[in-house]
Amino acid sequence: MIRPINPDSPSEVELVATRMRLTLIEVLGEEVGGSMYTMQWLVERVRWHLDPAHCIGTVLLAEDETGAILGHTILRVQSDDEVGEHGLFSTFYVDPAHRGKGVATAFVRAGEAWMRDQGMKQAMTYTATNNSRLRNLMESQGYGPILEKNDMVVLAKQLAS
Ligand SMILES: CC(C)(COP(=O)(O)OP(=O)(O)OC[C@H]1O[C@@H](n2cnc3c(N)ncnc32)[C@H](O)[C@@H]1OP(=O)(O)O)[C@@H](O)C(=O)NCCC(=O)NCCS
Repeated sequence: MIRPINPDSPSEVELVATRMRLTLIEVLGEEVGGSMYTMQWLVERVRWHLDPAHCIGTVLLAEDETGAILGHTILRVQSDDEVGEHGLFSTFYVDPAHRGKGVATAFVRAGEAWMRDQGMKQAMTYTATNNSRLRNLMESQGYGPILEKNDMVVLAKQLAS
């Protein structure tokens, strides 16, 4: 089941922040990823996405029938000079024991529905150019590279209305 995070649950917010750190370590390596942000900053970053005063965003969780949280994605409406307003998948993480079962694919579909509800015509994400697992997944969902710079790639897709 994909559902929004409970913003009033400190344990859910902290779990996502912890897994944001695990994502950085997995993608960038222990040395760079593990020291990039403090846990406090990561917790505040999750909360920032949930505060309408700062951001139109959401955090989606995948939960199994026992209530275990298998993974998350963080989304927001983003605006920049080159592409204007679009829906951004800021990050994805799926617990290693539950990968390859379609959890992240379900996040992409649910996230795109959320973006369409916000009136977005384009969805994007970015990652390290060598993150082939995420790239393969996004490409299978219709995303293609639109920019590569400093070992990062931006993947984008037009959203049908
Ligand atoms: C990238 C990541 C989010 C993918 O999560 P996932 O839940 O394993 O992804 P899915 O299961 O939806 O898709 C992975 C593959 O399994 C396949 N798959 C999906 N459902 C399947 C099923 N029921 N049976 C067999 N294979 C399946 C998909 O087709 C996909 O194949 P592909 O590699 O050829 O594209 C996960 O590997 C992860 O958390 N990585 C570390 C963090 C990270 O890199 N985050 C992104 C940086 S922002």
